[in-house]
Amino acid sequence: MKQDFSRKVYWPSKKVSREAWVNRESVYVAAERNPLKFWEGQAENLAWFKKWRKVFVQGPNGFKWFVGGKLNMSYNCLERNISAGLGNKVALRWIPEPKNEKIVELSYRELLEKTNRFANALRRLGVKKGDVVGIYLPMIPEAVISMLACARIGAVHIVIFSAFASDGLNQRLKVTRAKVLITSDGYYRKGSKIDLIEKVSAGIEGTNIKKVICVGRQGFGRNRRGWISFEGLLKNESDMCEVEEMDSEDLFFILPESGTGGEFIPIMHTCGGYAVQALTSGRFVFDFHEGDVYWCTGDIGWITGHTYGVYSPLLNGVTSVFYEGALNYPNKERWAEIIEENHVNIFYTSPTAVRMFEQEAGRKIDSFLFKNLKVIATVGEPIDEYAWKWFFEKIGKKKASVLDTYWQTETGGVVISSLPGVGPFRPTFAGRVFPGVKVGILNERGGRTKLNETGKLVMFSPFCPGMMRGVYRDEKRYRRYFAKGMKVYSLDDLAFKCPDGMIKIVGRADDLIKISGHRMSTVEIENAVSSLSGIEECAIVGRSDTLKGTVPVVFVKAKSGITEEQIVRRIVEKVGPIAKPSRVYFVEDLPKTKSGKIVRGILRKLVEGEEAVDVDVLSNPESLAGIRKLIKED
Ligand code: PRX
Repeated sequence: MKQDFSRKVYWPSKKVSREAWVNRESVYVAAERNPLKFWEGQAENLAWFKKWRKVFVQGPNGFKWFVGGKLNMSYNCLERNISAGLGNKVALRWIPEPKNEKIVELSYRELLEKTNRFANALRRLGVKKGDVVGIYLPMIPEAVISMLACARIGAVHIVIFSAFASDGLNQRLKVTRAKVLITSDGYYRKGSKIDLIEKVSAGIEGTNIKKVICVGRQGFGRNRRGWISFEGLLKNESDMCEVEEMDSEDLFFILPESGTGGEFIPIMHTCGGYAVQALTSGRFVFDFHEGDVYWCTGDIGWITGHTYGVYSPLLNGVTSVFYEGALNYPNKERWAEIIEENHVNIFYTSPTAVRMFEQEAGRKIDSFLFKNLKVIATVGEPIDEYAWKWFFEKIGKKKASVLDTYWQTETGGVVISSLPGVGPFRPTFAGRVFPGVKVGILNERGGRTKLNETGKLVMFSPFCPGMMRGVYRDEKRYRRYFAKGMKVYSLDDLAFKCPDGMIKIVGRADDLIKISGHRMSTVEIENAVSSLSGIEECAIVGRSDTLKGTVPVVFVKAKSGITEEQIVRRIVEKVGPIAKPSRVYFVEDLPKTKSGKIVRGILRKLVEGEEAVDVDVLSNPESLAGIRKLIKED
C-alpha cells in the first residue's frame, strides 16, 4: 500500500466546529490535568441508582471504576431518554436487505416495551443475573432487543458474528458456558437466503445450551422442534419489567476475540465504566445531538457493533440506522442511497468499505450530494491516503470532519481520534489521544521513543473507564496484557507520534491480521487447514490487499491430491467466509529455524515482494528458491 506521509492537515468547517459539543482546546487541557475529574464529570450524565463512592481504584491485581455505583444500561438507554422527552423519537430504523420489504421503525418507547417483554420472557425461562446468554443473530431489530433485554436483567451477553461457521459458534459457546442461545432462522445477504438453522444445530453440540430461542426472519419460516419461537415468547409477556440494579463492576458482556495462538480470548466488560465511555466517546467523537441520524455499518458481532452500533447511539438518544445486508447490494450505490434516503448525518464505517465504495463508484457517485453529513469516520485498520482523500472529497464533500478512530475490543471505546469540532484531521493518522486517556510509545528497552520514532503503543493507568476488566475464567491471560503492577497496558500495535501530537498507527506488533478490519488469528486459520488429512505443514501470513487491507495467503506442504479448492472450502467451513485466502501455495518445504520453527516473518516479506530476507536463521535456506519462484509466477 503506497503512502505519502503528507504533512497536510485539515480543520473542521466553521459550522461543524461551532455546533460541536467539544470545540475548544481547554477540554483537553482540563482532562489532562485531572483525568479522574474529567471522567467523573462525564459519569454525571448517566442515571445512577446509587452514586459511586470512589471514581477509580488501582491495586496490584487490577483496577475499578465508579466503585460502589449502581446503574443499569438498558434503563440508561431507554427510560432515561424517555424521561427526557424522547419517547416518540425513532431509536432504531431497520432497513432490510430486500428493497421490497418494509422498513421497521422503533421509537424509544416501543424499544423499551419490546425489551421489557423479552426480558420478562428470559426471566420466565430461568435466566438470572450473571447467566451467560449467547446471541447469534444477524442485523435485525431483535438483536438490539436481545442485547438490551440481557442488560435489563443482568444477564451477560456474548454476541457471535452470524457469519461465523458452526465451529466458531461452538467454541465461543463452550468457552463462555452460555446456557441459552438466541438466534434466527436466517437472513438475507447479497440476495441469498442464509440459513442459520443447520449452523446452530451443529454449533450447540456439546455445549451448555439448554434452550434455543429462534427469531422467524420474514420469509424463512423454519424452526427446529424444541426450539422456542421469539415472537411467541413476547405475546403473553407484560411490557413492564423491573430493572436489575447492577454494580458498576458487575460483568456486563463477554466478547471473544482472536488471540495470536488461534485461541479465543473471552474479553470481559463491566457495567459502569463501559457505559460512561460509550456515552462520552459517542458525544465527543461523533458529536451526537438530538436531531442526528447516525449509521454505523459495523456488525453487532464485533466490538464496533456493540459500542457504536448499539449502546453509544442509544445512550446519546439519537436515531440509528440498522441495516441488514451487503452495502453494495442490490446495486453498488446502496450504501449511498441509504445515507441520502434516511438523512444520515453521521456515518461510521471501515477503510475496506471506503475502498470498495471508491472502486465501485464510477461517475454516479457525483449525483449524491451528501448534504447532511457532518462527521464521517472509519475504524478497524489503517486507512491509506488515497482512500482517505476520496472519502473526504466525494462523501464528505470537503465539509464533513473525517475521523480515523483507533481502539480495540479490549479498550471498549475509542482511545485515539481527533474530535470533529477541534481537529486537525490528517490522512493516514489516527489523530489525537482522547481526552482523559494517557498513552505512550515505548522502544525495545521500555523507554519513551523520540518524536517520529516507531515503537509499541501502551496505555497508562487509569486507562479508560471502558477498559476490559478480565478474560473470562483466565486471570493469567488477562494479566499478560499488563506490566508494572498492572499500571501499563500494551495495545500490541506499533505507532509513532508527530510533534503536533498526531499519532499514526503503523500496524500490529504481533501475528494477528486485520481482514476488512476484522481481527483474525493466522493460527486459527492454520488450524482449520491442518485439520484436513494429508496436510503435512502449513503456514499462513497476511498480504497487503488494495480492498481488504490484508488477506491471508496459505503455504502448505501436502500429500498429492489435496487441492486449493479443498483448502479454501475447509477454511470457510471452519472459520467463516471472511477468512477466505487469496492464494494457496503448495510448497516442497517451509523455511524453518534450526529448532524446527516455521519462520513466518520471512514468508510475510516474500509475499510482499521483498527480496532481502535474513537467511542466517534458517536451517533450510534452499526452501526459499521454490517459494520465490511460485510467488513470482503469480
Ligand atoms: O491493530 C489495531 C486495529 O484493530 C485492532 C483492534 O481490533 P478489534 O479488537 O477487532 O477492534 C476493532 C474495532 C475497534 C487494533 O489493535 N485498528 C483498529 N482501529 C484502527 C486500527 N489500526 C489502525 N487504525 C485504526 N483506526
